[in-house]
Amino acid sequence: MRRVLVTGGAGFIGSHLVEALLDKGYEVRVLDNLSTGRRENLASVQGAFEWVEADVRDREAVLRAMKDVDGVLHEAAMVSVPFSMERPRECHEINLVGTLNILEAARAAGVHRVVMAGTAAAYGNNPELPKRETMVPEPESPYGATKVAAEQYLRAYARMGGLETASLRYFNVYGPRQDPRSMYSGVISRFVESLVAGETPIIFGDGEQSRDFIYVGDVVRANLLALRAPHLEPGAVFNIGTGHSVTLLELLEVLARAAGREVVPRFASARPGDVKHSRADMARARAVLGFEAEVPLSEGLARLWKWRQKVRS
Ligand SMILES: NC(=O)c1ccc[n+]([C@@H]2O[C@H](COP(=O)([O-])OP(=O)(O)OC[C@H]3O[C@@H](n4cnc5c(N)ncnc54)[C@H](O)[C@@H]3O)[C@@H](O)[C@H]2O)c1
Repeated sequence: MRRVLVTGGAGFIGSHLVEALLDKGYEVRVLDNLSTGRRENLASVQGAFEWVEADVRDREAVLRAMKDVDGVLHEAAMVSVPFSMERPRECHEINLVGTLNILEAARAAGVHRVVMAGTAAAYGNNPELPKRETMVPEPESPYGATKVAAEQYLRAYARMGGLETASLRYFNVYGPRQDPRSMYSGVISRFVESLVAGETPIIFGDGEQSRDFIYVGDVVRANLLALRAPHLEPGAVFNIGTGHSVTLLELLEVLARAAGREVVPRFASARPGDVKHSRADMARARAVLGFEAEVPLSEGLARLWKWRQKVRS
């Protein structure tokens, strides 16, 4: 595999993928419409990759971007759950029709493998733990629904032949370049921004809710493994988490230590529909991809904090 197309390559996770691919000697093409991504995210590798400013909804542009590509890491999406509830049709067009455009173009161009960013939102509010890939998906939002539907397209295209596909169901990803301005980027960003502003972090609920937080560098490794695995079952789906969960209270404690602060949170009423616990079963990713998350939360948060100190508010 020589040339890799990264859709959403100017985003948080995508930009780390681009850097890692270049580092490993791949030729990289990025397709992004800069809706939530930023060119600055790719500043460290400027000039080392091909840039295509385009929308995944634009079939012709996607077809052109697929020329001479061997593998695709498909990260471009409407990533916000609340936005997807406000604008479900747009979410459908970007996340599902956009993925169909990618698959159609990849098949036509003879691409070997397409790996898509899936999501733990596929599991919805099912209380069963840990989350196994064999569980019936129960998405609770248009965002989750489009990602699950896109996985079915990946499977169908793999079954039709000529193309291998995989979906990596990321759990809660964190790390440098997660948009600090976006209140939708998750609890870690919210906590970090409160600390930066010298404000008291707010915990919705009792703080005993838990999540499986994974450092972006580990997500990158999982993608590279999925791109290079010798064989993938048609439409394979993998959880990408750590297999461990921490409560929000524990998370805040570790973050406070990384930031060298004393932090006492304020509690607000629980948000309706928030899932209480989430944790990935990592057996399949371990067995098939040889993937294991490596960066401990304390270290990942220390790296994130250090980065946040450098960027302007
Ligand atoms: N961050 C997480 O915790 C998490 C968890 C589960 C899944 N994911 C998935 O990972 C992927 C990357 O997410 P992220 O956190 O890096 O978000 P991000 O918003 O930083 O990245 C998304 C990128 O896609 C681009 N994009 C959006 N719509 C597009 C369109 N129509 N055409 C072309 N480009 C478009 C954006 O400009 C941005 O650069 C997404 O598919 C998301 O659903 C993320």
